Amino acid sequence: MAAAAAAPCRHLSLVLVVALAVSVRGVWCSKSFTIANNCEYTVWPGILSGAGSPELGSTGFELAPGQSQTLPAPAGWSGRLWGRTLCATGKFACATGDCAGSSGGPGCDGNNAAPPATLAEFTLDGSGGMDFYDVSLVDGYNLPVLVAPQGAAAGGNCAPTGCLADLNDACPADLRVTSSGDAVACKSACEAFGSAQYCCDGAYGSPSTCRPSAYSEFFKNACPRAYSYAYDDATSTFTCAGADTTYAITFCPSTESVKSGAPGDPPLVNGTMAYTAGDQQQLGAATAAARPPSRLLVLVGGVAVFLALAGGRLITP
Ligand SMILES: *[C@@H]1O[C@H](CO)[C@@H](O)[C@H](O)[C@H]1NC(C)=O
Repeated sequence: MAAAAAAPCRHLSLVLVVALAVSVRGVWCSKSFTIANNCEYTVWPGILSGAGSPELGSTGFELAPGQSQTLPAPAGWSGRLWGRTLCATGKFACATGDCAGSSGGPGCDGNNAAPPATLAEFTLDGSGGMDFYDVSLVDGYNLPVLVAPQGAAAGGNCAPTGCLADLNDACPADLRVTSSGDAVACKSACEAFGSAQYCCDGAYGSPSTCRPSAYSEFFKNACPRAYSYAYDDATSTFTCAGADTTYAITFCPSTESVKSGAPGDPPLVNGTMAYTAGDQQQLGAATAAARPPSRLLVLVGGVAVFLALAGGRLITP
């Protein structure tokens, strides 16, 4: 009994008949999400359960820099998680990823993220008993997110995925969202222009007619494993066989956490990208937490002013 308690999943499924093992696995194999904030600014995770899926323990909460929180995942859970930034308390509202929860607090209460927002999407215990997950920029981008499975059984393409680059400053001008003059998010072409061609609607509603655009390629080049448009499935969907799997969801992950996937997976980070912002410019550097854009601009501006003053003094006799 003690041994079974120590390793419930594999032990029970070996010992019991298949049907019983399957029903017990649903109860005994606990899956969870561990949400961590590696950003230098506060992030408010938002969570939306899919239709017919039970709620997780929370629909939204605050995570200070360095904090993390683990939420148990009910068997068969499907839904999405994202990070909200620049939220004001009082009448709670966020500059990015806002969900306008009905309680007036940080909970999303069944509401979706306002685009643009980087989304982590999950369907646990789906087809073939596999967990399916992806990181999507189809609704745009607001901050770097990594999804890394831990403890899954062998099988599937169970690799880390995400968008590790900071794309807000690099965002094309016609997609950029600013707040108080800072670039804070980057719209999808579908949201910015609303055309069937970018939204994969109507005559463009199939994988053969909805093709990548220059805009979707901006996202795909920077974040090769993330969905860059609606039919980007081939390189963007990942699967894990069940077990006591924890899905670690990290905002502003260190680029040190870059891990390879299966042969044929695109890289998690495009090493040739020149325009990733902040510390992420030096891929593989010791620290890679993304800085809020405002402080970066102040720093760059300060250095420019200093150089101008110093230059002036040197030239003036
Ligand atoms: C990396 O980005 C460059 C453009 O900067 C692009 O040409 C190349 O295809 C990208 N590589 C991957 C693997 O996405």
